[in-house]
Amino acid sequence: MERSTQLQNADNELEQQFGYAERVKQILCSRYEKQPLAFVHTYGCQQNVSDSERLKGLLELMGYGFTDELEAADLVLYNTCAVREHAEDRVFGNVGLLKACKRKKPEMTVIVCGCMTQQTSVADKIKRSYPYVDILFGTHVRHRLPEFLYRRLSGGERVFENPDTGESLVEGVPLHRDGTFKAWLPIMQGCNNFCTYCIVPYVRGREHSREQSAVIDEAKRLIESGAKEIMLLGQNVNSYGRGNSEKTDFAALLRAVNALPGDFRIRFMTSHPKDCSDELLLAMSECEKVEKHLHLPVQCGSDRLLKIMNRHYDTAKYMSLIEKARALMPDISFTSDIIVGFPDERDEDFRGTIDLVKRVGYYSLFTFIYSKRSGTPAAKMENQVPEDVVKDRFDRLLALVQEKGRKASSRFEGTVQEILVEEESREK
Ligand code: 5AD
Ligand code: SF4
Repeated sequence: MERSTQLQNADNELEQQFGYAERVKQILCSRYEKQPLAFVHTYGCQQNVSDSERLKGLLELMGYGFTDELEAADLVLYNTCAVREHAEDRVFGNVGLLKACKRKKPEMTVIVCGCMTQQTSVADKIKRSYPYVDILFGTHVRHRLPEFLYRRLSGGERVFENPDTGESLVEGVPLHRDGTFKAWLPIMQGCNNFCTYCIVPYVRGREHSREQSAVIDEAKRLIESGAKEIMLLGQNVNSYGRGNSEKTDFAALLRAVNALPGDFRIRFMTSHPKDCSDELLLAMSECEKVEKHLHLPVQCGSDRLLKIMNRHYDTAKYMSLIEKARALMPDISFTSDIIVGFPDERDEDFRGTIDLVKRVGYYSLFTFIYSKRSGTPAAKMENQVPEDVVKDRFDRLLALVQEKGRKASSRFEGTVQEILVEEESREK
């Protein structure tokens, strides 16, 4: 289907959803004397946090208020993450705890959605073993929340909807933002990269970029509503614009957001090293509102493993990006994601990772223990690394990160910097 026809269909679908939202509102008015409250909990990445802002926007449209207390909630929604097994276990644990809540308050609506529910095995397990879950939906039908709620609240069966494809980029969904100063702005959805360890391309589908005009309009609205830091979000922002009808790319988008009037800063994540162009680094250096921070996940410092991970760069190419960026922006800070214990990771591979971390001098690192995700190529690879070896390597990396981190933040000692106060610390 052509992209413009797809967008038009999505428009019509959203109209329909607004109709369902109105009907849900009427049901809620007749059922509750006070405004019903929703407890929304988000697991995983910023993309999910941003998706939850849209889910909350729809809930608000239907008449729900929000609460941070599970006991006070009339509706509980878990927006889940599938990237690592640990995150999935936490979701199952927390959904399990809702059994007692639902016994006390049988009219409470329980919803599970997001990346985890896109996997058939998870949806089946929830259907079978968690009968008090009313609604489960996947990543491609998020905007249909009003319809799902209407079906269930008007006396219908439990709702289970997680088709493999669909329109995940519906424009015009209302937004409920929690933060005042920090704003998430999704510029694309999905991922085409199929790194061999990663479940994301399977649960979020193929990459689609929003039209530049839609991103700019949203940025303007965010700035008008007081946002001081706009985070442009995507699984691989560097490939923004591929396949769009208008010719654009991420560097052009950065320049366009930078040109908007107002006192705000721009950040972005995540950048894939394979698509990090000279033009992007140049745009970053020339745009005064863009933070001089690059999150450039390397994943590991072994050329042999980078190939098996399907990352499409080697350590030499990665280091050349770091050097180019530093030459243009001497004060730049780098952060990265690192996976420890990818199948067949040998001592010399791990030494490569330690060596690279030392050479780059990251400001901070997100370190992950490899988690086997069924359905990915890496899950079937031989020589999975024993747990004790992984743990030992992970601890060594962490010690290095802590030592380097202290040094990285001390380099601004004695200088005057503009800072954004995000919240008051609880520690006085
Ligand atoms: N195991 C561990 N870490 C993973 N990531 C993605 N998939 C896995 C996995 N199976 C990490 C990568 C990615 C970050 C968002 O999550 O480092 O950059
Ligand atoms: Fe996963 Fe790789 Fe896509 Fe990132 S780029 S979401 S690690 S497949």
